[in-house]
Amino acid sequence: MLRTPLPELDPAAPTSLVAQVAAFYAGAIRDGRMAPGDRLPPIREAARACAIARATVQAAYQQLAADGLVEATVGRGTIVCELPATSRLHAAGQGSAPVPALSPYARAALRRTQDMPGAPPLPAGVELVANLAELAPDGEQFPVAEWRAAMDAVLRQRGGEVLGYGHEPNGLPELREAIAARLRDVDPTATADGILVTAGAQQALDLVLRTLCAPGDTVLVTDPSYHQMHGLLRAHGLQVAAIPFGPAGLDVAALRQRLQRGDVRLLYLMPTFHNPTGRTLDLAQRHELIETLRSTEVTVVEDEYQQSLRCRGEPLPTLRSLDPRRRTVTVATFSKELFPALRIGWVQAEAELLAAMAAVKRFMDLETSPLLQAALVEFLRRGSLDRHLDELRGELRRRHAALQAAAHRHLPPGCRLGDPDGGFVTWLELPGDGLGDRLAELAAARGVRVVPGCVFELHGRPSRGVRLCLARAPLPAIDAGLAVLGAAARELLAGPAPVRAFL
Ligand SMILES: Cc1ncc(COP(=O)(O)O)c(C=O)c1O
Repeated sequence: MLRTPLPELDPAAPTSLVAQVAAFYAGAIRDGRMAPGDRLPPIREAARACAIARATVQAAYQQLAADGLVEATVGRGTIVCELPATSRLHAAGQGSAPVPALSPYARAALRRTQDMPGAPPLPAGVELVANLAELAPDGEQFPVAEWRAAMDAVLRQRGGEVLGYGHEPNGLPELREAIAARLRDVDPTATADGILVTAGAQQALDLVLRTLCAPGDTVLVTDPSYHQMHGLLRAHGLQVAAIPFGPAGLDVAALRQRLQRGDVRLLYLMPTFHNPTGRTLDLAQRHELIETLRSTEVTVVEDEYQQSLRCRGEPLPTLRSLDPRRRTVTVATFSKELFPALRIGWVQAEAELLAAMAAVKRFMDLETSPLLQAALVEFLRRGSLDRHLDELRGELRRRHAALQAAAHRHLPPGCRLGDPDGGFVTWLELPGDGLGDRLAELAAARGVRVVPGCVFELHGRPSRGVRLCLARAPLPAIDAGLAVLGAAARELLAGPAPVRAFL
């Protein structure tokens, strides 16, 4: 028996059956007959009950997903979303100012931004002991003087020229050349022609989706994964499914099984210093992944957002350099190795694909700031980035060592802490679903900020883990933070309270 309402359809009406189904559920959601979390009838059942084709119901559901009203979840069906406050006002005809009708993309983006989960805030009056949450380099470490010198030099030498349009849709050739040269230790095939400069990795990811995907396409992510990507994928109306990514790396058997359905368009992952776990696919795992995809046309999007922050061991080849199909796109950024306000990142892909991406990007922003690109070229030419990276890696090495030592001192048996070879993030896991989320809550109450693992789960499932980030934690804060986490973990492991989710 179906408990959800079913549309009355009129085949003779001037509007299509797809539009009628979509309008019926949009109305039901907006007037409150269906609430956030309610499930739309399964496609097969709705099609049978309304005597229409499954494809009709599917197209209507895709329209509702693109409008940000429902979310297609793998395993749970199509679920009604929380509407943004503006839509609720709009629907209820309340509010003082008229609310403009928003595009489906804007509605989805607004809802995602409003719902954006993160680290629990510190309760009022609680003093900060350690910020192990924020994944943004420490302002104290920014090479401000060297940047200012590079900027001055560019303006002095090139004057107004760098303040105009650059007319280089793929980015300044000298910058692309410099990026390609820096990449050659992880991709010997890297060339300037294969690089498109973007406004950070975030724009690069958006650009890849705009260029390669259409609403309704299926994209695979790791579970857990970079949480902003979840929102971005859904804003694009994509179906998202997750492949487990544990201590042993990506679950290749699960990937193989999922690929058998033949509907996967794209796989997004971070092979090096993965966010949130800090884990890295070793060389054998990289080869195995590429081998698994060998007979498919699935595009891999590898996000190498902090590949250059390696403090130990040899750099590993990018998936792109190992992919004989040439279907891997690499996205990367200067945000973590230098500073995020630069808003410069890049995509590395085949020239034909880059031409399409450059055309799409042109519609978005014409080009990435020529002034900042020119200053970055000068900064690189002076060796300032190399000097900065040496210092940053040295500090990161000290912080990772301090974290391991503090974990040894403070964490009770049963806790498992990763020990990555670089990057800012590490994963701390407790033996029980939901314990990571509760640890984040308890720690916040005692002045330590960490991000609960559920934030990075595709469906917000209770997690065993928390993400620890060393970007904003000097050595004394690491020890103090781990002392708090250790005491909280001890309580959680000793306590009889049932495990419950943070969100
Ligand atoms: C995995 C990952 N990709 C991309 C980004 C976005 O970086 P950008 O500042 O270059 O846009 C972030 C930011 O934290 C990230 O963690």
